[in-house]
Amino acid sequence: MIFRPARFLAAAALFAPLLAFGQKNGCIDCHSQLDGDLKAPVAAFEADIHREFGLSCRDCHGGNPDTDDIALAKDKSFKGAPAKAKIPLFCGGCHADPAAMRTYNPALRTDQLSQYETSRHGKLLKAGDTKVAVCTDCHGVHGILSARMPKSTTFPWNIPQTCGRCHADKGLMEGYRIPTDQLDEYMASVHAKALFEKKDLSAPVCNDCHGNHGAFPPAVSSVASVCRQCHAAAGELFGKSLHKKAFDDMGVGECDACHGNHKILPPSTAMIGTADGAVCIQCHDEGSRGFKMAADLRRTLDGFTSGYSEVEGLLSLARRKGVEVGDAEFSLQDVHTTLVSAENLTHGLDEAEIAKTVAEGEKALLGVRTAALGAVKEGRFRRQGLAVTTAILALFAVALALKVRRMGRTRRDEAGPGVPGPPSS
Ligand code: HEC
Ligand code: HEC
Ligand code: HEC
Ligand code: HEC
Ligand code: HEC
Ligand code: HEC
Ligand code: HEC
Ligand code: HEC
Ligand code: HEC
Repeated sequence: MIFRPARFLAAAALFAPLLAFGQKNGCIDCHSQLDGDLKAPVAAFEADIHREFGLSCRDCHGGNPDTDDIALAKDKSFKGAPAKAKIPLFCGGCHADPAAMRTYNPALRTDQLSQYETSRHGKLLKAGDTKVAVCTDCHGVHGILSARMPKSTTFPWNIPQTCGRCHADKGLMEGYRIPTDQLDEYMASVHAKALFEKKDLSAPVCNDCHGNHGAFPPAVSSVASVCRQCHAAAGELFGKSLHKKAFDDMGVGECDACHGNHKILPPSTAMIGTADGAVCIQCHDEGSRGFKMAADLRRTLDGFTSGYSEVEGLLSLARRKGVEVGDAEFSLQDVHTTLVSAENLTHGLDEAEIAKTVAEGEKALLGVRTAALGAVKEGRFRRQGLAVTTAILALFAVALALKVRRMGRTRRDEAGPGVPGPPSS
């Protein structure tokens, strides 16, 4: 057999952590024989990312792992388990040390501790409040996984629970002046639907809007940039609108004023206008220009939408009659795109531009409508044709039946009276 050093090294690298684990480790040997909280870390640590990188108990806790003797194991270097308030510095001992971390993974950021210290969590901890989140509240203690692993507490679809464990706990949050509804509200949002139902990992969870380590509520000025990261088109239009300066002056969050923050629902034209449920009337009183435009805009969009629905109905009728309407349906899709962009243009409040887009859409819609009416007519004609054919066929069948009957009778007549009839009962 040829010795392939590259393969041997690859295999060795793969099994190195196993070998390391197989080696004698007094901490693990002894702790695996203890009970409860003293034993639990051993099993949990088997899947831990630190173990995967060849680290062990000693790297975090200190002590001497080469002995079975408890007194020798807990030597001067032994740090024990840190108190909650000390955990950020305990983890930061490595994670905030670029030189140490570079030897393991040069690409891993080393700003978690400094970021954490700027957060509301970090500031309150420094002031002596130990109810806030420290590193291990979000990452776990033994059994820490990379955020890329779906089982990790920091993987997108686990984050709402990781944060909600505290933020939705009324008892824990008592005494703070913030609500405890963020988790419930978030779970009812379009974002949670996209994440959990469509498995769309690009939908935001708590940390996408609040940051991982510098967790703070996005201040009014930064809400826009948070939403705009993913909704650039709406953001750009809003930025050019008269609302931009008006909202800044009022200190109102530019997207959440109309959409909310946690419970963002699928938007619809019902948000526009002057009826109950429209967002515009929160700020625009009757008689103002904003009020008038809200009403006009709603009328314009409703006109377009109802025309669109009518054509959609005609096409589906024709399709049910067996007429091929693929081309017309394709053109209707283009009209739909125009409808969506007209709706999106409401962010810019530019009446002329909205009117222009709606006019273009309605013109295209007219073309599709003509085609749809033609298709429905063709369907009706085909049905009439079918009815005539069916009638002729029916007549023919009746004639045939009569003929057959007459022939039968004739044959019996020809056979004469000698043939016995059916036995009478
Ligand atoms: C990444 C760092 C890290 C590694 C590696 C690590 N620990 Fe810990 N350990 C901690 C921290 C932090 C705490 C304190 C947790 C707390 O109080 O919330 C702790 C707590 C403990 C406790 C006290 C548990 C309790 O609830 O009282 C024991 C026992 C323990 N670790 C044993 C081990 C053993 C055995 C290993 C090796 C298998 C190990 N640890 C590896 C960070 C680590
Ligand atoms: C011979 C058994 C034995 C060995 C070896 C041993 N431990 Fe322990 N360890 C214990 C017992 C028993 C306790 C609980 C009583 C105590 O706190 O001393 C404990 C407690 C701990 C605690 C939590 C309490 C504290 O002091 O904060 C940690 C963390 C810990 N051990 C880590 C280690 C590490 C790391 C090693 C290896 C360097 C190690 N142990 C080796 C038996 C052992
Ligand atoms: C002895 C140094 C050391 C200590 C102490 C330490 N870590 Fe680590 N940590 C590492 C190394 C090395 C890695 C692996 C680098 C990587 O994941 O690319 C790592 C990886 C991680 C990762 C995964 C990063 C990724 O790849 O996504 C997390 C999360 C993490 N550590 C959290 C903690 C927490 C929380 C604590 C404190 C309880 C802690 N670490 C204590 C050295 C340390
Ligand atoms: C409020 C929750 C929270 C706290 C507190 C927290 N983290 Fe994180 N951390 C996260 C989340 C969420 C991610 C995942 C980010 C992502 O999606 O990539 C993360 C990622 C990481 C990573 C991977 C690399 C990176 O920066 O993306 C490391 C390492 C890490 N955290 C270490 C720490 C350390 C050390 C502390 C304490 C000083 C800490 N974390 C405190 C939530 C937290
Ligand atoms: C261990 C419990 C705990 C966990 C886990 C936790 N938090 Fe917190 N958080 C708190 C407490 C307590 C406060 C302080 C409340 C206050 O600000 O008055 C707080 C404050 C905040 C604030 C500031 C609120 C304000 O307006 O003052 C934000 C934002 C926040 N957390 C977001 C998060 C996010 C995002 C996560 C998950 C990645 C998370 N938290 C995980 C306990 C926790
Ligand atoms: C789409 C972005 C987004 C997501 C996702 C999100 N938040 Fe928020 N959050 C905000 C905005 C915007 C505010 C309000 C900021 C302001 O008014 O200054 C806020 C405010 C908060 C506050 C302050 C108290 C309050 O309710 O006003 C906390 C705490 C908070 N969020 C926690 C969470 C938690 C926990 C999650 C996940 C379950 C989460 N957020 C998900 C955008 C988001
Ligand atoms: C990390 C990216 C990201 C961030 C940040 C984000 N969103 Fe979203 N948003 C999405 C994704 C993905 C969807 C789902 C799209 C779909 O499935 O149709 C979505 C859907 C929406 C929808 C529904 C769109 C529709 O056509 O039904 C609205 C409204 C919305 N987000 C508003 C906001 C607001 C307001 C903010 C800021 C508070 C925000 N988003 C922050 C990614 C993001
Ligand atoms: C003045 C109220 C208002 C403000 C402010 C506002 N929106 Fe909207 N938004 C709406 C309305 C109304 C609709 C639905 C239009 C329709 O369906 O007819 C909508 C629809 C949307 C949609 C879905 C349609 C699309 O464009 O894909 C997204 C995403 C969206 N908004 C994001 C944002 C973002 C991001 C911001 C902040 C930059 C923002 N909105 C600010 C009222 C507002
Ligand atoms: C959070 C409050 C708020 C909401 C919600 C809101 N507006 Fe406004 N709007 C303002 C303010 C403030 C101004 C600038 C002062 C003014 O002209 O009334 C303004 C200005 C306008 C203008 C320009 C008026 C002019 O003088 O040229 C129009 C048009 C307008 N809004 C339409 C709407 C429509 C349509 C909606 C609903 C989709 C809406 N607004 C929702 C606060 C709001």
